[in-house]
Amino acid sequence: MAGNRILIVDFGGQYNQLIARRVRECGVYSEIRNFDDVDAAVVKDFDPKGIIFTGGPQSAYGEGAPSIDDGIFGLGIPILGICYGAQLMAYRLGGSIESAPTSEYGRTEVTVDGKDGILASADDINTCWMSHTDYISEPPAGFTVTAHTDDCPVAAMEDRTRGFYAVQFHPEVNHTRHGAEFIRSFVLDVCGCDPDWQMDSFAETAIKEAREKVGDGKVLLALSGGVDSSVVAALLAKAIGPQLTCVFVDHGLLRKNEAQEVASIFGSGGQFDLNFIKVDAAERFYEKLAGVTEPEQKRKIIGEEFIRVFEEVSKQIGSVDYLAQGTIYPDIIESGLGKSAVIKSHHNVGGLPDYVDFREIIEPLRMLFKDEVRQLGRELGLPEALVSRQPFPGPGLGIRIIGEVTAEKVRIVQDADAIYREEIANAGLAGSISQYYAALTNMQTVGVMGDFRTYDHAVALRAVITSDFMTAEAANIPWDVLQRVMTRIVNEVDHVNRVFYDLTSKPPGTVEFE
Ligand code: XMP
Repeated sequence: MAGNRILIVDFGGQYNQLIARRVRECGVYSEIRNFDDVDAAVVKDFDPKGIIFTGGPQSAYGEGAPSIDDGIFGLGIPILGICYGAQLMAYRLGGSIESAPTSEYGRTEVTVDGKDGILASADDINTCWMSHTDYISEPPAGFTVTAHTDDCPVAAMEDRTRGFYAVQFHPEVNHTRHGAEFIRSFVLDVCGCDPDWQMDSFAETAIKEAREKVGDGKVLLALSGGVDSSVVAALLAKAIGPQLTCVFVDHGLLRKNEAQEVASIFGSGGQFDLNFIKVDAAERFYEKLAGVTEPEQKRKIIGEEFIRVFEEVSKQIGSVDYLAQGTIYPDIIESGLGKSAVIKSHHNVGGLPDYVDFREIIEPLRMLFKDEVRQLGRELGLPEALVSRQPFPGPGLGIRIIGEVTAEKVRIVQDADAIYREEIANAGLAGSISQYYAALTNMQTVGVMGDFRTYDHAVALRAVITSDFMTAEAANIPWDVLQRVMTRIVNEVDHVNRVFYDLTSKPPGTVEFE
């Protein structure tokens, strides 16, 4: 596969992960690197068939603005510049950049003047997504302008002889009509990449690599039952079998039947040959959480107790050579690779490495996006219900029960949530909602059931649509589906007499309740 890849040079744009996604959707491997980690020697070493310069927030001519080693333009490798990347390309190659008299933001009608290059699939007037305050006022020598708008003389330009293409708009976002096709044309037609990035070949290579790396060493994995750690478990099980030990801590705060499902897949008699240790720690967690109502304190207790349990188990296992983790590509990008870094304050099962005696960490999924991880899971034979699982917070139901956590409340929220999930699936809505769950409010209300007065719990239903979980909107679930969920919950779950639907967006709300 040597050479059959695209290098994405990150100048701090908001949509850089999307560019990498679009390239991989063409079946071509891509990697994002920070602009100041890239020079001609690095490019030669990475040996890509094409390079994409991303957008970014600065002015290409500004003092201290991110720039690029001019040597890269002399390597004979095709380059696509997007937004800031387009301006930088123009600037470095002798064109002119200026502050635009009229900035363009959002949906913009672009007149396409040259449709035989990467814009071949464009409409004559193509709707594109713009976000810029500078523009290219004069293209460099050798370039032809292939698109313009009323306010932007160079919305796209190209120098086919050198394989340089530039677009002021963002082809990577869905709002740009045919945008994915423009990227596909650059990657496949201009760069001549073969679409060979497939999960079956990835699985094969990753299994081989893990086998070689681990040798006859021992590997420990904290298996949460979520998609990422489950796929790591399946991959390593295929690679090294019984040299892998998975520790699964059931903290009693998982969704209904989830602990049993994980145990049936990975435990003895399941489809994988590995060491599986399930720790039933529910009572321990409930004891620690008794009387605690403050959300941050609950999170802290759950996180600490998790580490304690894991520490105790790993002491029994003794020292291991490797600690495996389900880190995925967005985690790596978000924790500081890109200048656009959005730092998640995630309170996962962090800190584990401090407590376990091991030599090195292995992260077989570190170059994969979430949907690629799911695809890989399918490839490795994991059941669809596990592979398509929605995000679930590390502290589990502990933060979906408002106020004190008790075993009884866990039972209520598990049952209500299972009904909600079943009805959403029956209505065919599961694929179109980003995350949905039932929570238990800390409110009791008066109701009437079968002529009797009740004074019982209120359940809240949450469902959001989001692409990045940084902002979100409440999902527009049809009324009849909500009514069916409500009826079933009050009828089937003891001690619930009221159901609310949460309409709050994020911000001001959050996806979770606590
Ligand atoms: P919030 O509530 O912050 O949630 O809007 C955004 C996304 O993050 C998930 N989330 C967590 N995930 N540990 C996790 O692994 C946590 O402590 C945690 N808190 C929130 C949440 O489910 C949503 O997908």
